[in-house]
Amino acid sequence: MGGNIMKARIVIDKNKTVSRIDDRLYGSFIEHLGRAVYGGIYEPSHETADDMGFRGDVMEMIKELNVPIIRYPGGNFVSGYNWEDGTGDKSKRPKKMELAWQSVETNEVGIDEFQEWAKRAHSDVMMAVNLGTRGADEARNLVEYCNCETDTYYAGMRRRNGFEKPFGIKTWCLGNEMDGDWQICHKTAYEYGRIACETAKLMKWTDPSIELVACGSAHINMPTFGEWERTVLRECYEHVDYISLHNYYGNPNNDTAAYLASAVDMDSFIKQVAAICDEVKAEKNSDKTVNLSFDEWNIWFHSNEQDKQIEKWQVAPPLLEDIYNLEDAVVLGDLLITLINNSDRVKIACLAQLVNVIAPIMTETGGRIWAQTIFYPFMHTSQRGRGTALEVSCGCGTYSAGGKKDIPFINTAAVISEDGGELTVFAVNRSLDESCTLDLSLSGYEGFNPVLHTAMEGDDLKAVNTADDPKKVVPAEKDISDGIILSPHSWNMIVFQKTAE
Ligand code: AHR
Repeated sequence: MGGNIMKARIVIDKNKTVSRIDDRLYGSFIEHLGRAVYGGIYEPSHETADDMGFRGDVMEMIKELNVPIIRYPGGNFVSGYNWEDGTGDKSKRPKKMELAWQSVETNEVGIDEFQEWAKRAHSDVMMAVNLGTRGADEARNLVEYCNCETDTYYAGMRRRNGFEKPFGIKTWCLGNEMDGDWQICHKTAYEYGRIACETAKLMKWTDPSIELVACGSAHINMPTFGEWERTVLRECYEHVDYISLHNYYGNPNNDTAAYLASAVDMDSFIKQVAAICDEVKAEKNSDKTVNLSFDEWNIWFHSNEQDKQIEKWQVAPPLLEDIYNLEDAVVLGDLLITLINNSDRVKIACLAQLVNVIAPIMTETGGRIWAQTIFYPFMHTSQRGRGTALEVSCGCGTYSAGGKKDIPFINTAAVISEDGGELTVFAVNRSLDESCTLDLSLSGYEGFNPVLHTAMEGDDLKAVNTADDPKKVVPAEKDISDGIILSPHSWNMIVFQKTAE
């Protein structure tokens, strides 16, 4: 693979840190959409189903990803959702027309079941409230239902439904993508800013320990991007803790050189939103910093055409079932590197989504399960990317693609583990034809040597995993005896441990 070899000079200094990484950077997302819930996490007739109907094979694979928090129940779905429909006696729950995805929602799974599923998956819930068809009243009632021990109606309703102890949900989203005209009851920035402010007040009065995320833009190319964040934050700055970012990347024109630079766009998006937060902070002369929740990010484009053929008003139609290839895995690993390098401001991030719907995990309803290519960079980064992010200075060549100049061939992040015993470097080589030797200088990490180099690489950028061939694209261990070499278009993880004094 790749005849030519370039060199990148990487300097890491123990004293130059970005931030302690919030574990929630490795969050994910389950929406009532397609086969994410029904046929995904929940399928009572599946041979691996547990006592509550949750698929055991899905649960086991999610545990491998070590996902600390999962956003729920949407997404666009939440803007038309009545949370009460998914509580209490299952036989009395209403079947509804779900307008966001034009499907039928049976409400067989709701907050009662999902919070129990999340516990079993060793994850917390990040709950979104409906600020489309509903508002502050239903939102504060939901906080009471989930979190309060009071002798009052909604806390009592939870107890009557069989849950004595509160669910203890700490992170909440104030609606979803309210800037998009596709959203059920879309709002202007000012309308949303006011509702977010008043809803936030009521929710925090109900449970002062919760943290709140206001909606930012649905993506960086929204016509209102920037002005939306500014206007919303001017209305609700003192009442919220985070503002959201959403963005999906893709390669619809098969321009791989440009696609491999997707993380450059993510980095710029993050920096622009952080700057707007600080601009409003300065305007308000506030002591408080609003941080970022990148609570929808992934690659989404493969399924766009097939989704146009899907019949409306079905239960759990196969929507957004992107099948990911090797180049998607490299891009996804690069996006994770970018989140780590911005972990001083991005405290929460949710890979959207987790099962079947633009997801690392795919299932057959009633059948098999397999990991998509993107599963692996997410799993390795989630497992080893905990601790403190270090600044990385990377000297390497650059290229131009897709109208962008000065795209570095190499992108890296470094994380020192909590106990200081393991330093992990994540790296992508964006070059389509050149390998790259890493020349590393680790100041303050004397005696640390590479003990493991795992990579996702290969000649066929379009190779995918399927139910019949589930291990076609998987990470492989590399020989490190001749140094660290990054193959063309590859994602890499290099682990250093102290092996000498
Ligand atoms: O994740 C799929 C959809 O993408 C979500 O419902 C929505 O918030 C976004 O547009």
